[in-house]
Amino acid sequence: MSVGSPISRVWPAPATGPLTDPELATLYGRAGRPHLRVNFVASADGAVTLDGYSEGLSGEPDKRVFGLLRMLCDGLVVAAGTLRHEGYRAVRLSEPRRAWRREQGLTEYPTLVVVSGSLDLDPAQAAFADAPVRPVVLTRDAAEPPPGLTDVADLVRCGADRVNLAAGLAELRRRGLDQLLCEGGPHLFGALTAADLVDELCLTVAPLLAGAGPGRITAGDASAPRHLPLRHVLAAGDGTLMLRYARDPDGAPPAGAAPAA
Ligand SMILES: NC(=O)c1ccc[n+]([C@@H]2O[C@H](COP(=O)([O-])OP(=O)(O)OC[C@H]3O[C@@H](n4cnc5c(N)ncnc54)[C@H](OP(=O)(O)O)[C@@H]3O)[C@@H](O)[C@H]2O)c1
Repeated sequence: MSVGSPISRVWPAPATGPLTDPELATLYGRAGRPHLRVNFVASADGAVTLDGYSEGLSGEPDKRVFGLLRMLCDGLVVAAGTLRHEGYRAVRLSEPRRAWRREQGLTEYPTLVVVSGSLDLDPAQAAFADAPVRPVVLTRDAAEPPPGLTDVADLVRCGADRVNLAAGLAELRRRGLDQLLCEGGPHLFGALTAADLVDELCLTVAPLLAGAGPGRITAGDASAPRHLPLRHVLAAGDGTLMLRYARDPDGAPPAGAAPAA
């Protein structure tokens, strides 16, 4: 791909020269065990949205890493709120990224996993209707699907009053989805944090002040603080920072060669 704003490593060991996609893929990698990675973009003053959406915070360096993280995962987990609000489309990857996955023995595309207690979902939304792999919906035991939803997605029922996220993730892992990437939103991240299910946070900090108003990357009921060590700091030429925090230092073993696209 053409790189508009080169990304360099500034911590722990500054690397000379811009990072290539294969080097970035190795820095993020796939963990050697079941792993939940969460990815967000925020402004320097902590806002999760600009004019109601994440798009205004996400420049070219963030989009580049966002795409690489999708390439690296088995399951792409998103809450229904974000799926509806951001109008999620089907998960697509470029041919070089699909080829990289084939070389690693992975399916060509990750599986989209939607977390929804209400099942207020539109089966005609492209995320479902055009999905290259049948999506999975984690939901409550008694939730009623709208007409057509079970034609385009598998329902996994876990939890009476609300979706039991630990049980849901265990079922995903039973289905072979070990490396999970969660793209939000804030209420799902807050619930995953409260349930102590987050192994890694990838946080892009956009170099702008959004001002008062927007929420944070986490929302919902309060929970105990949890220590999450910093593992790397990358900086793009436009001032965007990309921070990776993870429980385990070896969360990202070498991922092999990655495509240049
Ligand atoms: N900056 C970023 O990187 C980024 C990333 C993602 C989203 N966002 C922004 O965040 C906003 C949406 O976030 P949000 O916090 O309102 O909603 P959210 O976390 O995306 O979705 C909340 C919904 O998730 C479903 N859910 C089911 N079980 C849950 C559980 N156990 N815990 C938590 N959620 C569960 C529920 O869906 P049902 O209603 O179907 O039951 C609930 O209403 C949008 O403005 C979006 O643009 C920003």
